[in-house]
Amino acid sequence: MVQQEQKGAEEGLHPLLQEFVDEHQVALEKIKQFEEVVQAARSKGMDEERASLINDFFQFFGDYVLAHNEREERTVFPTLQEKLLEREEFQEGGEKRTAVELLQSDHIKGLQLAAVSFNLFGLGLRLPDPTSRLLTIDLASEQALELTELLKLHFTREGDIVFPMAQEYISQHEFDAIHAREEMP
Ligand SMILES: [Fe+2]
Ligand SMILES: [Fe+2]
Repeated sequence: MVQQEQKGAEEGLHPLLQEFVDEHQVALEKIKQFEEVVQAARSKGMDEERASLINDFFQFFGDYVLAHNEREERTVFPTLQEKLLEREEFQEGGEKRTAVELLQSDHIKGLQLAAVSFNLFGLGLRLPDPTSRLLTIDLASEQALELTELLKLHFTREGDIVFPMAQEYISQHEFDAIHAREEMP
């Protein structure tokens, strides 16, 4: 028990939450590289290598990040939502929203920003007129950077606030049941 108390908050997370935190770290690495290439495309112009790296990120987003989001929505979110409603814990501000609803709306916003920037990059690359091309790539970059800012903020919200909250409100037994349910065929 004493040992438990000495552990940091993050180390005390249930393995399922810890897996999510680890996946955020993987995504943050990719995000950092993506931001660099987007900045370069914006300031020095698009070339084939940059276009291909940008494409790789959207591929990663579509495979890894979306699977991660869906898994959160399937596992921890529903149980945490119940707890928050029972406790009548809502976010500060106008509407009565729980932390889970806020995170879900981040997921949707992320998907929208990814779709918009991906399509704008694609369009920019196909435009023959150099001015239109530059403008479109600039717009695509803006949306892409908005996406990366959102993702970083979202990972911080989960890792620093919502997952520790879930750890506190959801019992070990409930967590294990969530985990076990997941592994069923
Ligand atoms: Fe997450
Ligand atoms: Fe999330």
